Amino acid sequence: MDVHGPALFHTPSGILEGVGTSRSKRCISELQGLFVDEAARQALDPAQVVYEVYMHNACEEVEGGLFFGVSHVYPGKVGAEYFMTKGHFHAKKGHGEYYWGIDGAGLLVLMNEQRASWTEPIFPGSLHYIPGCVAHRLVNTGARILKVGACWPADAGHDYASIQQAGFSVRVIERDGRAELVQAVRPPDHC
Ligand code: F6R
Ligand code: ZN
Repeated sequence: MDVHGPALFHTPSGILEGVGTSRSKRCISELQGLFVDEAARQALDPAQVVYEVYMHNACEEVEGGLFFGVSHVYPGKVGAEYFMTKGHFHAKKGHGEYYWGIDGAGLLVLMNEQRASWTEPIFPGSLHYIPGCVAHRLVNTGARILKVGACWPADAGHDYASIQQAGFSVRVIERDGRAELVQAVRPPDHC
């Protein structure tokens, strides 16, 4: 890959454009098994966007390289559960990542390999270091699009299968108008 010239990172819109950038989106229709209430997911518009990721790929997936991305998680819920990303461990388990809040409000859900989970609040200016061997997921608990920057080693890769099989040990739901963390009652089927 041969990328020349600066790309553009607009803030607070969180939009990346120009050379080396791309954009992908995840819609409700693609996220079967991710949310606990599958019937509620099926009742939603299949084309509803749950999240988008803007990427800047200035190198291949090489040791020593870095990737940069901005995730936009839309506001919304499937049943009582807030819109969220799939979440993953890195395929190279020891590789960490930085996240930082750009706009909106939400939670970073973290889980180690022993399935102990914890969260950090995300808000404009919040900075989050995700150590290696820790799965990570963004949850939008606010009314605006949650926009979060990320930078990670280009050779980290993504292990979605572990989450697909066992899920996170906690879920984030709305109860009485507030975000609440609950123990996950069952792993998702697939997503
Ligand atoms: C990269 C990273 C983020 C996520 C993005 C979408 O390592 O953590 O850029 O890839 O928030 O989430 P997933 O990849 O879980 O669908
Ligand atoms: Zn990651």
